[in-house]
Amino acid sequence: MATVRAAELRDLDAIVSIYNHYVATTHFTFDTVPFTTLQRRPWFDQFDGGRYRALVLEHDGAVIGYANSAPLKSKPAYATSVEVSIYLAADQIGQGGGAQLYEALLDGLSAEDTHRAYALIALPNSPSIAFHRRYGFNQVAVLHEVGRKFDRYWDVAWFEKALS
Ligand SMILES: CC(C)(COP(=O)(O)OP(=O)(O)OC[C@H]1O[C@@H](n2cnc3c(N)ncnc32)[C@H](O)[C@@H]1OP(=O)(O)O)[C@@H](O)C(=O)NCCC(=O)NCCS
Repeated sequence: MATVRAAELRDLDAIVSIYNHYVATTHFTFDTVPFTTLQRRPWFDQFDGGRYRALVLEHDGAVIGYANSAPLKSKPAYATSVEVSIYLAADQIGQGGGAQLYEALLDGLSAEDTHRAYALIALPNSPSIAFHRRYGFNQVAVLHEVGRKFDRYWDVAWFEKALS
């Protein structure tokens, strides 16, 4: 049985490895160059266990997925809005792990001074859209051809969830 817990620095290698698969092979993230663990450290350091947190899904001592909340924008009035993100190891998709991670993440965020969560989904990604709708996110915008990766432009849908 997989369990969810707060991410620790010792998990960063595994988190980076999971993420780099999607960086290198998909348009799901607009990062284009895989990270080293050291390069990903500033990203990890933003998590304060409050509004901004990272959770890992662990099975048999191995990290098989993670989810996080991060600042949506840096200007202070945006502080009650967070951007959420989730990545499962590619061979762990569709087994309930995403549900475990998001239930824990969204429960935790609702106890913080947060008001809105946003998921930015590069299109197409119908599993992610179905997943976010399942957790109460509604599409509020599509930015057309806002990113370029693999020599083509991609749309991004913004999904919003009320946290309070
Ligand atoms: C999106 C993602 C995190 C979902 O996690 P998951 O572990 O595969 O999802 P779960 O098995 O926990 O599914 C939870 C619910 O989401 C919905 N869902 C998930 N995948 C779905 C799919 N392919 N089609 C339709 N609904 C889906 C269902 O409602 C499901 O509940 P159910 O199984 O009771 O029907 C996972 O697919 C993933 O890591 N994808 C690649 C990375 C990615 O796209 N990240 C998001 C970037 S925006």
